[in-house]
Amino acid sequence: MYRALRPILFSLPAETAHGTVHRGLNAIQRTPVERFLRDRLVVDDDRLAVDAFGQSFSNPIGVAAGFDKNAELPTVLGALGFGHVEVGGVTAHAQPGNPRPRMFRLVEDRAIINRMGLNNEGADAVAERLRSTPDPGLPVGVNVALSEATDAADAPADYRYTYERVADVTERSSIASRTQSGNVADYLAVNVSCPNSEGMRELQNRESLEAILGELVDAGASPLLVKLSPDLPDPAIEDALAVVDDFDLDGVIATNTTTDRPSGLESPNRAETGGLSGKPIENRATEMVRFVAERTDVPVVGVGGVSDAAGAYAKIRAGASLVQLYTGLVYEGPTLARDINEGLLERLERDGFDSVEDAVGADL
Ligand SMILES: Cc1cc2nc3c(=O)[nH]c(=O)nc-3n(C[C@H](O)[C@H](O)[C@H](O)COP(=O)(O)O)c2cc1C
Repeated sequence: MYRALRPILFSLPAETAHGTVHRGLNAIQRTPVERFLRDRLVVDDDRLAVDAFGQSFSNPIGVAAGFDKNAELPTVLGALGFGHVEVGGVTAHAQPGNPRPRMFRLVEDRAIINRMGLNNEGADAVAERLRSTPDPGLPVGVNVALSEATDAADAPADYRYTYERVADVTERSSIASRTQSGNVADYLAVNVSCPNSEGMRELQNRESLEAILGELVDAGASPLLVKLSPDLPDPAIEDALAVVDDFDLDGVIATNTTTDRPSGLESPNRAETGGLSGKPIENRATEMVRFVAERTDVPVVGVGGVSDAAGAYAKIRAGASLVQLYTGLVYEGPTLARDINEGLLERLERDGFDSVEDAVGADL
């Protein structure tokens, strides 16, 4: 089906195609069509289940941040077979992002370059949507980013504002315990690695991270994860992990997009400014998962270039407890989560693992 649909979508500008898919998914959400897809695409097998940072995931494959910026689609993405969705990036203030065009396919390279600039409806609107949406039936993380209008010096308060909206701190309880009664975030991912927002990646230095994460810990944010850039040099990753340790964070997400342009990119769009995702970053992201997993005991979420079961399995064996993807979905279509989950089961059997959790870090 997607083979027939893809040329039509790819004839549209990338962001227009994304909007079309987004509206289509929204239209079928909680309808018999969604039920039809759920019956065919959810792989129900206990061996795929993962427990991480106090949350139960029915399978390790999630939708990475940026696909559902305003938290409109978690339920239908669950019906496509995903085990979690990270919505956002959400900023304290609503913002339009950069001028279009700002998203480009590199078809020959199975990649995307984007400079969206964190367009989103803002923390108040997204929190309200999360709160008013019926239980989507899968963990939903919220990716929190710095508002364009906020100076780096005020970053801690800016991140805290968004956390407090999505956690509904009027109840003064952690995110996870709220979820049992309401429909808010199941984890918070602190995005300090978006290359398209002025100065944001500088927040990955130790001092800034301490200030931001300290503020969020103080506010009671838990589970709390940090998402890192693949462009960080090794000592900077080690510094970030020291902060993860100091503040007792719950996990690390590796990685965001890269501003690097690996040699060998063929598409003319390689010259566009922005963050590169997809196949060309797959190995770098897997190596960063390994680097992080070797140096921390907290769960690692592996992201970058995953488009098949072999790629997801490689990240798991390199130490990822969970795997996310975005660009792969654009190229492979809506059956991808099912295909990966089925492929994972085959690989677990082949290699004698009882479960995904058994295979996590097998290559370390
Ligand atoms: C169009 C687009 C928008 C994105 N927006 C965000 C975002 O708002 N926050 C974030 O942390 N990552 C964002 N990402 C990065 C993805 O979450 C992911 O880390 C990256 O694309 C690598 O995974 P992939 O190769 O599977 O796409 C975005 C990626 C794309 C392609």
